[in-house]
Amino acid sequence: MADVLWFNGRFTTTDEPVLTVEDRGLLFGDAIYEVLKFTGRAPILARAHWARLGRSLEMLEIPNPWTAAAFAAVLEGILARTEFEDGIIYLQVSRGCGTRSHAWPEGMTPVAFAYSSRFRFPDEAMRTGGVTIVTMPESRWARCEIKSVNLLPNAISKTAARRAGAHEALYVDGGNVVEGSSSNLFVVLDGEIVTHEKGSGLLPGTVRDAVIGLAGEAGLAVHERAPLLADLDRASEIFLTSTTSSVLPVASVDGRRVGNGTRGPVAERLQKAFGALEVKEADDWSSGLRL
Ligand code: PDD
Repeated sequence: MADVLWFNGRFTTTDEPVLTVEDRGLLFGDAIYEVLKFTGRAPILARAHWARLGRSLEMLEIPNPWTAAAFAAVLEGILARTEFEDGIIYLQVSRGCGTRSHAWPEGMTPVAFAYSSRFRFPDEAMRTGGVTIVTMPESRWARCEIKSVNLLPNAISKTAARRAGAHEALYVDGGNVVEGSSSNLFVVLDGEIVTHEKGSGLLPGTVRDAVIGLAGEAGLAVHERAPLLADLDRASEIFLTSTTSSVLPVASVDGRRVGNGTRGPVAERLQKAFGALEVKEADDWSSGLRL
């Protein structure tokens, strides 16, 4: 259920139709987005989302419509007005609006919006029992490090996974396991954690980065390199990370059980650590700390 909407500098509600048909985000997918989680009306990892938003815009040469202070004020305004204590904020910035032409006119004015929404985060059964995933050939473009709204391949893959009774689709490219359709992937091999290195093939997840930091603090070894498809068979644990699922254990891949077929000790430890980080993030925001 959607809720309060900030659109190009003013607050309204998601009932108001604000976008026009010549928005380049609609016509060309010429837009970037972010999804933030909030708990107790405080955003989690706001600084990391703000940083990635800036990088996505820069890579596409779209001017950032916000300063850090203005961005924080938009979040504050939404969180003060939202009906929900917990949920997500979706925000999008398109290059702008104008007569349809593939090449963009220079100097367009970006169209930006952000709204809050209720969200059903994974329940305890999923967080302890794990989810099933299926592998699929990589089908996306070569600039997955940009958080662009071009998500048709991801939508097709996720739908195929759901139709196969699975929670997530996992992209495999030339024998390398890349990431999920809306999550990053971690594999535990011989007691050490492996996750794909950053690069143009995958989205640098905010939770991915936080979890790598937390694993380091817990004394767990983390290797940033592409897991091989064959690694999935010998992994003692596999888990996904994302804003909307935090740390989510994987019970099976392509119908084959992972480890004991339930949450393992590494995922459990990182779930706890990430939960504590969420509490700290929310406390920091509530006590006035911003970007
Ligand atoms: N998706 N990889 C892809 C392809 C993603 O779409 C996402 C997030 C992630 C994880 O990024 P983060 O940890 O910053 O959420 C990785 C969001 C949640 C979405 O599209 O709804």
